[in-house]
Amino acid sequence: MIPLSLAQIARVTGGQLCHGDPDAVVSGEVVIDSRRAGPGGLFAAVAGERSDGHDFAAAAVAAGATAVLATRPVTVPSVLVADVPAALAALARSVVDALPAVRIAGITGSSGKTSTKDLAAQLVERLGPTIAPAGSYNNEFGHPLTVLRADAATRYLVLELSARGIGHIAYLCRVAPPRYGVVLNVGHAHAGEFGGLDQVARAKGELAEALPADGVAILNADDPRVLAMAERTEARVVTFSSAPGSDAPVRAVDIRLDDLGRPGFTLLTPEGSAPVSLRLHGAHNVPNALAAAALARELGMDLDGIADGLGAAVARSRWRMEVHQRPDGVTVINDAYNANPESVRAAIDALAHLAKGGRAFAILGHMAELGGTSRASHEDIGEYAARIGDSGLAGLIAVGEEAAPLLDGARRVRSWTGEALAAPDGAAALELLANRLKPSDVVLVKASRAAHLEGVAAALEGEAGQ
Ligand SMILES: Nc1ncnc2c1ncn2[C@@H]1O[C@H](COP(=O)(O)OP(=O)(O)O)[C@@H](O)[C@H]1O
Ligand SMILES: [Mg+2]
Repeated sequence: MIPLSLAQIARVTGGQLCHGDPDAVVSGEVVIDSRRAGPGGLFAAVAGERSDGHDFAAAAVAAGATAVLATRPVTVPSVLVADVPAALAALARSVVDALPAVRIAGITGSSGKTSTKDLAAQLVERLGPTIAPAGSYNNEFGHPLTVLRADAATRYLVLELSARGIGHIAYLCRVAPPRYGVVLNVGHAHAGEFGGLDQVARAKGELAEALPADGVAILNADDPRVLAMAERTEARVVTFSSAPGSDAPVRAVDIRLDDLGRPGFTLLTPEGSAPVSLRLHGAHNVPNALAAAALARELGMDLDGIADGLGAAVARSRWRMEVHQRPDGVTVINDAYNANPESVRAAIDALAHLAKGGRAFAILGHMAELGGTSRASHEDIGEYAARIGDSGLAGLIAVGEEAAPLLDGARRVRSWTGEALAAPDGAAALELLANRLKPSDVVLVKASRAAHLEGVAAALEGEAGQ
């Protein structure tokens, strides 16, 4: 981060300096987890549901933090503010304003933000020093914390923007105004909170609206709600597509998947074409890769560099479509990070591909935050799962009561001969599976974050080797 004195921090945030030397400097990382506080850093104390950061203020300073950003008095050097996220936003914005040469890209969409951000960051890093968030640092806390990591050496910021309501993305765009904006898709993630897909589109489109006239809106031509955002921006529009017959300037043709579901395709751009082989799993990573390619191209990367970079890019964030082959021949697809209807369909498609000719099992937890359409969405996904491949699914294990409608949906498929199994928790799911699993079977594990099925996936991945 750019070194800032406590006096400067107090001025930028409109806060009040307490017990601190105004000339003491913050030059280390700004964190909200006191365990990560380090020398020269700033610890932002947040009152959460389970614990209150203010209780850890002294520990953070003992660990080397210069000061604490707090909303009530603490006994260590601190800047007292009315609202911590607003203070972080003000600080982040002051850093952005102090670094006019940094080019800022924002990525949003209902599914694939983190995957695309990780791909894009691995391309853009080849052009110069790049700051991109770890994992999904994409809200009113993670976003400014990421921006605050930028310093005089930084050339690019590749940011993930999330929204749970109208105005959220507009807010993040004021914290760090992007010149480049990528919109991936409009889907059902958090659709319940938004009140329908049109509201989701309104919210995601705030990124397009925030772009300046000399900016670039990178839009998915295959999603009509995203393409319509072209009307909502002053920026130049560049589209990408993986649909056959598209005339989008950045597109993929000859898409195929290898035995492990890793996509290969020919990347077409106005500059020419190049073969690309991804290390990531699942056809849904084709649009993600195209979005990253379109962004890198706008930042000046040549076609060979893009194709090479995409082929070298690895999955940086855990539990997103990790494919693990056990020594006994069982394949585990760990996609336990999160779930919504679109991403579960994408994962089921990958399961079907990997299980071609063999048996497929799915351990699915519930998809959270779908609002009134929740039951119907779960039934539809269950039906979709029961229809995969030639032989369909050998077993669908629904974890937890809220996931039970998946089984009802699967049973709607009359021709389905697989088993519909209810498990109260992850341990029960593992037990049900253990009695059935044979070498060369493929198992998908997926649910919303709240279900924490990554433990189930980890247990499955570890099991056979011992
Ligand atoms: N373009 C996409 N379309 C549909 N599903 C996707 C796409 N990209 C990723 N996914 C699915 O969504 C899950 C979450 O991906 P992630 O990149 O973390 O998205 P986000 O950050 O938007 O939550 C992945 O595990 C995968 O199953
Ligand atoms: Mg994410």
